[in-house]
Amino acid sequence: MCGIVGYIGHRNAVDVILKGLKRLEYRGYDSAGVAISNGKLTIQKCKGKVSQLEKLIKANYPHGTMGIGHTRWATHGEPNDVNAHPHQAGDYKFAIVHNGIIENYDALKKELIQKGHFFEGETDTEVLAHLIQEVKKVGLTDFETAVQMALNQVDGTYGLAILNLDEPDKLIVARKGSPLLLGIGDNEVFVASDASPIIEYTKKVVYLDDDEMAIITPDGYQVKTISNIELSKEVHELEMNIEQIEKGGFPHFMLKEIHEQAQTISDCMRGRLMVDENRIVLGGISDVLDRIVNAKRLVIAACGTSWHAGMVGEYMFEHMAKLPVEVEYASEFRYRDPLIGPDDVLLVISQSGETADTLAALREAKAKGALVIGICNVVGSTIARETDAGVYTHAGPEIGVASTKAFTAQVTVLAMMAILLGQKRGTLTKECSRDIIKELNTIPAKVAQILEKLDDVDTISRLFAYASNFLYLGRSYNFPVALEGALKLKEISYIHAEGYPAAEMKHGPIALIDEHMPVVVIAVNDHTNEKMISNIEEVRARKGRLIAITNEDNHDVRRLAEFSITVPQTHDSLSPLLTVIPLQLLSYQIAVYRKCNVDQPRNLAKSVTVE
Ligand code: F6R
Repeated sequence: MCGIVGYIGHRNAVDVILKGLKRLEYRGYDSAGVAISNGKLTIQKCKGKVSQLEKLIKANYPHGTMGIGHTRWATHGEPNDVNAHPHQAGDYKFAIVHNGIIENYDALKKELIQKGHFFEGETDTEVLAHLIQEVKKVGLTDFETAVQMALNQVDGTYGLAILNLDEPDKLIVARKGSPLLLGIGDNEVFVASDASPIIEYTKKVVYLDDDEMAIITPDGYQVKTISNIELSKEVHELEMNIEQIEKGGFPHFMLKEIHEQAQTISDCMRGRLMVDENRIVLGGISDVLDRIVNAKRLVIAACGTSWHAGMVGEYMFEHMAKLPVEVEYASEFRYRDPLIGPDDVLLVISQSGETADTLAALREAKAKGALVIGICNVVGSTIARETDAGVYTHAGPEIGVASTKAFTAQVTVLAMMAILLGQKRGTLTKECSRDIIKELNTIPAKVAQILEKLDDVDTISRLFAYASNFLYLGRSYNFPVALEGALKLKEISYIHAEGYPAAEMKHGPIALIDEHMPVVVIAVNDHTNEKMISNIEEVRARKGRLIAITNEDNHDVRRLAEFSITVPQTHDSLSPLLTVIPLQLLSYQIAVYRKCNVDQPRNLAKSVTVE
């Protein structure tokens, strides 16, 4: 979703900002713009990619050491040059970039029009710009106070940065609901909606919290609430490095991230999986472990791929820890007036840690007294900071919009949590937990094995690249994997795909099966194998094109399927960590054959910060 970069210091601001906007491209956007202050305000913006903005800027290059930039993911008003940020108001003395949504923009706009304001575009951000100007004019206040007063009148969310021509050495930024951080350098300060644009300049960051603003000059910054109470903020050290956010020789981030999974799963288990001692250590939840162990119910809330990981978790927790689990779409959880209270635990799962729906679910459950724990990838993200306790996945920055390594890291954390709870609740025997822990330890090597032989995936991808539909079927632990496989395919190749529990097929989707329908079945050697074979026969009888994800020695499935991709054998509960890999590769390869923009699929955003 929208991205912000701001700079004040001694470098050429436009260079820092353009480079930063490119680093933010992965978040998804449809237009981009910059404002540079150097005695005058130069604003350049356009619909399309940052490369188009770059061309525009080359023709009229603004020199200056202070500026703001933005990538816009359209919410209010179509993507076009006018609606692109930065925005200005009547006297054109300041420029603003904004992430988030001003929910009461319509009412504010009507009032402002009555007061004589004229709007060039349709965005809610332009309304905020005019509101600041109106407040300044009527209240006869200084600019900073006008910004505070305006922000106190808006409902909704914002991460914003403002340049004011009258105060040429000052940048004002503020946050409510949309992440914003400051990068602290030597006589320079960076602003960004996530750490990727600033990592090459500094590792020192200050995270703004909701209802906070910062007044930034080249020599430093001052953080206060939007009600003007001064704050002292902790400076954090970023853990990421520049290599992690570059492609490292791979054609796409998604492929790089698929290939990183042996390493990221291993990183995720490091220091936590004590194989010889048959022990799991999850320091991030140790203080609240007793409460989790004694919980009546675990509710898991997440979105998209993280929701699929949560579903795998449901099977794990119920099987190993005999703990009742409900998995909720975070977006629905909040609107149902959910029955959750102090005896329950809410587990939120989020790669970005910024997903607005998941954050809303977290806040709802917290307000109702539940313990809220999290599984997050981005260190210091809002969800990571607002949960009572949690476990980081340590998968490193995930840049490809389609989530891959985050999913396997989330499932790894869920497996460790389930084993730990099973041990503590006495529902998992020593032998069983020893077996699963040992097996979990072998997963990175097995993932590496899958990634070594990609010929089958390539052949199948080439053959089915132009199919119009795909059906994905799985049972038990591999039902969520069927959902995940379908999601991966549709989001990056734009082929319609559906995931189903294999047995549900006969209750409807079977009507779709004919000789044109590729049907991906996840049929490994587990306790559902016989039943899966019956489903495979049903597909065969209707001439569906069967693609099986199975094991080398599963001769029945391999004989029945038209195509097979094999994965090593593992414990039933851990098989999603292996079966998902060929499905990620299949959708990647199909998207490449269809010449789709793999890393930045249309309409999608990496971090979904609107509800
Ligand atoms: C799919 C995908 C999305 C995210 C979802 C939740 O590939 O990336 O479905 O999984 O938007 O995002 P996080 O995990 O950041 O909360």
